[in-house]
Amino acid sequence: MSIPFITAEEAASYIKNGDNVGFSGFTASGTPKVVSVALAKRARELHEKGEPFKVNLFTGASTNDYVDGELSRADAIGIRTPYQGHKPARDLVNKGGMHYFDTHLSHLSQDIRYGFYGDIDVAIIEATEMSPNGEIILGAGLGMTPTIAMMAKKVIIEYSSYYKTSFRGFHDNYVPLDLPHRREIPIYKSSDRIGSTVIKIDPNKIIGVVPSNASESIAPFTAPDEISQRIGNNISTFLAEELRNGKIPKEFLPVQSGVGNVANAVLYGLGENPDIPQFEMYTEVIQDAVMHLMEAGKCKFASTCALTFSDDAMLHFMDNIDFFRDKILMRPSEISNHPEIVRRLGLIAMNTALEADIFGNVNSTHVLGTKMMNGIGGSADFSRNAYLSIFSCPSIQKGGMISTFVPMVSHVDHSEHSVKILATEQGVADLRGKDPRQRAETIIENCVHPMYKELMWDYLKLSQGGHTPHNLRAAFAFHETFMDCGDMSQTDFAKFVK
Ligand code: COA
Repeated sequence: MSIPFITAEEAASYIKNGDNVGFSGFTASGTPKVVSVALAKRARELHEKGEPFKVNLFTGASTNDYVDGELSRADAIGIRTPYQGHKPARDLVNKGGMHYFDTHLSHLSQDIRYGFYGDIDVAIIEATEMSPNGEIILGAGLGMTPTIAMMAKKVIIEYSSYYKTSFRGFHDNYVPLDLPHRREIPIYKSSDRIGSTVIKIDPNKIIGVVPSNASESIAPFTAPDEISQRIGNNISTFLAEELRNGKIPKEFLPVQSGVGNVANAVLYGLGENPDIPQFEMYTEVIQDAVMHLMEAGKCKFASTCALTFSDDAMLHFMDNIDFFRDKILMRPSEISNHPEIVRRLGLIAMNTALEADIFGNVNSTHVLGTKMMNGIGGSADFSRNAYLSIFSCPSIQKGGMISTFVPMVSHVDHSEHSVKILATEQGVADLRGKDPRQRAETIIENCVHPMYKELMWDYLKLSQGGHTPHNLRAAFAFHETFMDCGDMSQTDFAKFVK
């Protein structure tokens, strides 16, 4: 059967108010770039006529400005999950303009297959190759594509001509068996291939093919600043010591690394440390740093959900694609983040905190406990099940007016039970085997910025007793002081404790 080429506007006209729409991709990589823009335009036109128009967005992770940006600005999002990272979307979330629920990336595909959120009415999927029988090769990111391709009632393909080299062979598409018949997922090392290089979609479901030629539009990463470099060095020095002490096997363990500039700097730190041997990655995104580590021979292999390369790095990747063919596999987020595999492979998981408390609880998502930043992403998929879960962040933000270490976090994403190591530019706190008071002492000593240390010791002295030495009257004194005068260092506990 022949599948017609259609315009983005025609494709968008098939999507109705209230539809659940699934998107391919993970971060900007592999995310559609054309139909969502036409959809946003249609929403604006309908809004101008006084008609309601919002769709519910189900994605692998964050997307791009064509999806989250355009649709947020058009006020065209009803429900959004599982992760967003764009300012217009964040602003809409925080003013209650869309219903955002933050969920673990590894869970969403199964939740969709079991109908937790209703049917997927339309899937919009970016393909880089396609055959008339509905077999497609995906692009630079998978996300939930195998599930949404299977579950969607209708499919729109965005056919990208941007990639000048074939991605055939880089994907490992796999959907676990349905419950209660599920077996183990047979990945025993990062490079084990378990699925298919292609996705097959029933051609009768495909409405049409929309041409696209845009890049992923990922900006270059900034060179790591001094603080990020110090965090990276502290973590790599700590891991080298663990290796020397036999707490990490001499072959090393697969590494997972989170998103952002600090994560990039931490990987560079591992790359530059001569005491860290060659390693593999089992992770959800690989950024520019990983490509350089592969070329330097430091990273042997990476299992990932997406190639989140800046545009320049993507061009470099495509120019040298044969070098990378046996070094990278892209898997769906359900598999790249699967707790079973994270535990089996024994990952060293390195993620970023917004805020941590002196007992080891971590907040990755909520500024001052209320404002959503991005979402939990895959951080808990990995950290809860890792061999070593490391969280890092700079010890202060906004020129020192915020201490990222507080007496009690204003929101908990990762509890003290899932956090083994905390690292800042000041040093590393090893929380293993320590009770709450000992954890507080090691965190204050090793991670807290000098301008906040004395305040933290003062807080411990206010303890009301018990196992975890809190004083509930003063637990949020840092946050309240920041809300009053914009500077946590002005905290005066006497105002809180009678
Ligand atoms: N209170 C208030 N603001 C804070 C803060 C705190 N405790 N900590 C950081 N901020 C502000 C920073 O000042 C900065 O503000 P700006 O944008 O105005 O400059 C902003 O938050 C981002 O901080 P930055 O240090 O640049 O963070 P980042 O880019 O390294 O990202 C997270 C950090 C936590 C937001 C990001 O890693 C994330 O979304 N994590 C959750 C998902 C995840 O871990 N995914 C990976 C799994 S593989």
